[in-house]
Amino acid sequence: MKDELLPLLINPYTGDELKREGDLLVDVTTGEKFAINSSVPVLLRKEEITGLNRLYQKRYDWLVYIYDFMMLTLSPLIGGKEAFRSIAEIIEINSGERVLETSVGTGIEIKNLVDHGKKADYYGMDISYGMLKKCRRNVLKWNVDIKLVQGNAETVPFKDELFDVVYHIGGINFFNDKEKAIQEMIRVARPGARIYICDETVKQIEEQPKFISIFYQKPDPEIYEPPLKYIPGNMQNVVNHMLWDDKMYLVSFQKPE
Ligand SMILES: C[S@@+](CC[C@H](N)C(=O)[O-])C[C@H]1O[C@@H](n2cnc3c(N)ncnc32)[C@H](O)[C@@H]1O
Repeated sequence: MKDELLPLLINPYTGDELKREGDLLVDVTTGEKFAINSSVPVLLRKEEITGLNRLYQKRYDWLVYIYDFMMLTLSPLIGGKEAFRSIAEIIEINSGERVLETSVGTGIEIKNLVDHGKKADYYGMDISYGMLKKCRRNVLKWNVDIKLVQGNAETVPFKDELFDVVYHIGGINFFNDKEKAIQEMIRVARPGARIYICDETVKQIEEQPKFISIFYQKPDPEIYEPPLKYIPGNMQNVVNHMLWDDKMYLVSFQKPE
């Protein structure tokens, strides 16, 4: 684990700071211990991962074996490059900014942003250790620096107001609590930060090849709605962008100064 990561982290369940003791992170107040797994801090309590979060944690631990092939080889065949391009155009990142992707997966979107010239200080968090393990390998292969943490997007293990940009792509439709995940993105964003939330619409689910649909729930239009109703009224410049012929939504907004 990189030394510069520790001062930014908290116990997500108590909000307390952490100190390092060998291969553990320890809550300075309660003494609760968290593992560091091959240099990735695991800031989760297993018993708190329930419902859809648990289902998708397990599912992505094995989906990882085909994930990059699906995203980098199959998706371009059905026009997915357009989505990557639009995402990189909309997400504004200035050189040297501190950027967090909640649900970083295998790191594909950070690579996409870097390939579009968006060099920054990147942090990635995901609930699936399998996805993070692959991300760690990708980072070496792509020569992209991402500081990784295993955590739940509904209880983000970072201190308040740290990031210039916080974004999420591709997981929120199936979170247990979308509102909590959005509140957490806002909490860790500094005043004035830009926040982006992107996922598939019901159109994408209906049009994608049938073998992919078996990994996801049946189309329920409510699940695939842009989560505009959960964005607090004091957020600024709220825009819902529709991408890739309406197959994805990307909601952008700014935390007030
Ligand atoms: C479709 S993948 C997207 C990965 C990456 N953002 C991308 O665009 O390639 C969805 C990701 O969400 C993660 N995920 C699911 N539920 C989560 C949760 N509650 N907290 C954090 N990550 C979660 C999964 O492990 C998976 O890596």
